[in-house]
Amino acid sequence: MSVKTKSPARVPLLEEERMHSARVFAGYQHATWEMHHIPWEEFRSDLVLPEHIVFVKGAIVGESNVIAATHGLLNEFDTDYDFSQFACIWGYQEIQHHLAFQTWLQLAGNSIEHSTIASMREAYPPGVTRAATLATNVICEVLATHAYKCVSRSMQEPVLAEILKKVSGDEARHAREFVHYTAQQLSEKPEECASVLETLYIYMGTSRDLYRHPVSRFKGNLPELENHESIDEMFAYFAEVDEGGTEWAKCCEQLFRYFSTLTGYQLTKMSEVRRAIAEESLRGMASV
Ligand SMILES: [Fe+2]
Ligand SMILES: [Fe+2]
Repeated sequence: MSVKTKSPARVPLLEEERMHSARVFAGYQHATWEMHHIPWEEFRSDLVLPEHIVFVKGAIVGESNVIAATHGLLNEFDTDYDFSQFACIWGYQEIQHHLAFQTWLQLAGNSIEHSTIASMREAYPPGVTRAATLATNVICEVLATHAYKCVSRSMQEPVLAEILKKVSGDEARHAREFVHYTAQQLSEKPEECASVLETLYIYMGTSRDLYRHPVSRFKGNLPELENHESIDEMFAYFAEVDEGGTEWAKCCEQLFRYFSTLTGYQLTKMSEVRRAIAEESLRGMASV
């Protein structure tokens, strides 16, 4: 006698136009992963290198900013229910990243001081415009996607390799949604376009800041983080394992693609971003 297994019911998608986050929520339930999907029992202490510990501590510092970031987003978007709901869904996933890295670190016989994590609690301040805040998040997510992907490819320790692969997939999905919300904001307030271009220029415009993440500029100077791991360590390791700079190049290409779509300017290099900023300011003056 064959036993019929019931296939999971198809969940009807909410059609309410102003509830993009509901469709994201449904999509994430299929795309995401849970802590018990990580093959923790396959952990290989003999494959852990000291630089992996430093890298993971940097990732923990970066990921644990989720509370400050969610708090800041909820403050800044207090009149936008849909985006606020997305911020909560996003925050839940970022918490999982933080806790997965913490769990791996414990398996590796190491730990990070709780005071280091707790020092990052304070909410982020609002950006110069809402579109600039969203664009900053696009940059954070794209950088994290490529950093984790690149390190996961070179990672010998299987549990960390798997965490990195899964987290990288989440970050790529996050980037897409922040792009969606930036585009929506710009369609309502096209005058914020210059601030989006400036955000790209501020974070990615100077070559001395290769392999650096916006979080290090916001929280990198906290006294509690002095002589401690920071997100800079994570990106330093990304730079080390990124042979020939291929992944970094892909990361920049992706950012230029996203920001070209968002702003309507053809952006392939920083000089074009500078020119676009100049054009936007001339346009702003003409409309005054
Ligand atoms: Fe994350
Ligand atoms: Fe993310």
